[in-house]
Amino acid sequence: MRVLVTGGAGFIGSHVVDQLLDRGHEVAVLDNLETGNRNNLPVHVPLYEQDIQDESAVAAVFDEFAADAVCHQAAQMSVSRSVREPGYDARVNVVGLLNVLTHAVRVGCRKFVFASSGGVLYGEATEPAGEATPAAPISPYGISKWVGEQYLQFFVREHGVQAVSLRYSNVYGPRQNPLGEAGVVAIFCTRMLRGQTSTINGDGRYIRDYVYVGDVARANVTSLESVGNAGFLPLNIGTGLPTDVNELAAILRSHCQRIWQQRGQPGDVPQPEHGPPRPGDLRSNLVSAAKAGQILGWQPEVPLEQGLRQTVEWFETARQRTESTSDKAIRTE
Ligand SMILES: NC(=O)c1ccc[n+]([C@@H]2O[C@H](COP(=O)([O-])OP(=O)(O)OC[C@H]3O[C@@H](n4cnc5c(N)ncnc54)[C@H](O)[C@@H]3O)[C@@H](O)[C@H]2O)c1
Repeated sequence: MRVLVTGGAGFIGSHVVDQLLDRGHEVAVLDNLETGNRNNLPVHVPLYEQDIQDESAVAAVFDEFAADAVCHQAAQMSVSRSVREPGYDARVNVVGLLNVLTHAVRVGCRKFVFASSGGVLYGEATEPAGEATPAAPISPYGISKWVGEQYLQFFVREHGVQAVSLRYSNVYGPRQNPLGEAGVVAIFCTRMLRGQTSTINGDGRYIRDYVYVGDVARANVTSLESVGNAGFLPLNIGTGLPTDVNELAAILRSHCQRIWQQRGQPGDVPQPEHGPPRPGDLRSNLVSAAKAGQILGWQPEVPLEQGLRQTVEWFETARQRTESTSDKAIRTE
């Protein structure tokens, strides 16, 4: 299959690209590198460095790469930016999506996988929420994901495309950007490995459903490969297992401590501190992926402990690489 991965240079998208290549598919990426990075991609993968807000640029990409399927990961994904700049959020997440859908359909593409979000659609959920849970988005980002799903349903009715909307829970793993606001695992890994104090918002008793990025990428690839005449199919992708931020920080700290010992670094990784609560943070958000199990045969495979260990190890390798590059830069100055 010829698959165009929008946002393929980003965290989740680049893992989707890797797995699609492993499965023998032909892949191209459309990404403006707003938060993505060319280095996340194998060198031979074509990258169209374009903005999905620009309809003529999107049209030209589909003219050159006539995709059989699109995996749409590109998005403005900061909740707080969506609150500050709802127009920008809608231009990327709604108009950008429409540009991609319009030109995908024009070149005959009939399969579409969309990165949606269980977190922002379902809101407060103390038990794992199923797909029938009414959507109650409160931020512009949540609204734009919800509107995106409505447009997908329009394209299913009007153009006969098959659309799977994967409603992720909290995704973590290698290559997550620690500069964002949502990637708590990436932020804690980066700070703890550098010996900096991490800040837990409020009392830290905020329950989330953490799912490993490799599992999420597999859900994307399986959806692209296996969903037949489904019309519009929303599927939750998560573990349904609750973890609060205090527990998460403790597991990460123990993995980082082990890395410190391997480095021969004296002392202890600093204990996280508690800061003020972040306004609007949900107390609990969990999704049930039972339907993805029935329809795709998808289950999360990487337990949290193992996924966090792999993530810490990846961030440590990235840290060492950055330090040796900056050492070299200093030596050659
Ligand atoms: N990470 C999570 O926990 C999570 C949870 C729910 C949903 N999602 C969704 O998953 C998708 C991927 O998120 P991620 O965590 O990999 O984030 P990311 O920021 O790493 O990936 C987004 C990618 O889209 C690209 N992009 C942004 N604006 C663009 C534009 N205007 N034109 C072209 N490319 C653009 C970025 O450069 C980046 O490579 C997003 O749609 C996000 O909303 C993520």
